[in-house]
Amino acid sequence: MSLLNIYDYEQAAAEKMAAPYYAYFAGGVADNLTLHENRAAFDRIKLLPRIFRDVSQISLETVIGGEKRPSPFLIAPAAMHKLGHPDGELATARAAAAFGMPQILSTLSSVSVDEVTAVGHPVWFQLYIFRDRAWSKEIVQRSEAAGCTALVVTVDVPVQGLRENLKRINFSIPADLPLPNLARPGVSRDNSTLLHLVEENFDPGLTWGDITWLRSFTKLPIWVKGILRADDAQRAADAGVAGVIVSNHGGRQLDTAVTPIEALPAIAQAVGHQTELILDGGIRRGTDALKALALGANGVALGRAPLWGLAVGGEAGVQHILQILHDELRNVMAQCGCTTIAELTPDLIYTPPQL
Ligand code: GLV
Repeated sequence: MSLLNIYDYEQAAAEKMAAPYYAYFAGGVADNLTLHENRAAFDRIKLLPRIFRDVSQISLETVIGGEKRPSPFLIAPAAMHKLGHPDGELATARAAAAFGMPQILSTLSSVSVDEVTAVGHPVWFQLYIFRDRAWSKEIVQRSEAAGCTALVVTVDVPVQGLRENLKRINFSIPADLPLPNLARPGVSRDNSTLLHLVEENFDPGLTWGDITWLRSFTKLPIWVKGILRADDAQRAADAGVAGVIVSNHGGRQLDTAVTPIEALPAIAQAVGHQTELILDGGIRRGTDALKALALGANGVALGRAPLWGLAVGGEAGVQHILQILHDELRNVMAQCGCTTIAELTPDLIYTPPQL
């Protein structure tokens, strides 16, 4: 089978992976409506390409997190890459490094933060805040000491979504799968199911005060991930965060939640002048990235796509899917008459006349 696009990779991954692990990566929540809509919402958007613009040179360079980056893509946080390939997050890291891409490493990564930062590319640390704040503080301090350059606080899991798909197949975290960021001297691991891990440890009592709490002991710029409302984005911007990740957790939390691409325009209008925006959820094509960037995102983060590359071919697989997405974005920018990311503006999006 030739692997031409992200869908080909997903199919190949589905054939290759152990069924429960594929189900964990691919699955959504409850009726999978948001999972499906994250894709469908992109597909409904039509483009209004510009012509005669001399597109012989295309640059994907842009600024994310206040720094110049080779492209607008980032690796989104996703748990337990070793379910896809024995090299886990290290393979993802090496592939991301080849593109100079930031990788947002999950609290639930199966390779330790130190090993991932040793690869030498920008690594941002995704944080779930635990009831045990001393433990969370330790995790943040370890990631800062390891050289992570930003903290990404996930705010859309006050409780775990209704992951019926995982219950039906009795998904459990393999006993030998390492979760090294959670390691504490003298504490053994007893978390076999994801629900158990979330219920035992994640704090449903989080408030904006927790951003202040994080600030009290870390110098890392803080991003908030999982915002879908303009008023929450405004609150985050007013709290001085480095940026907002517009996300519904890849359709894995609240079913029927609005899709990030539909939520983005109002958020960009409210805070786009004040803070940076990254979108994740449903990016499978260069056109998806182009649409998000045109509607106000500064960057787009890839969740499942790298996982499919990883499962199929380890580091080389991740590198190939990243190459595909970079090539597709260049291709569709040329066809839209755009040579730079700054030229991706909302007028590229077709708005049907109001009848
Ligand atoms: C973890 O964050 C998951 O979505 O499974």
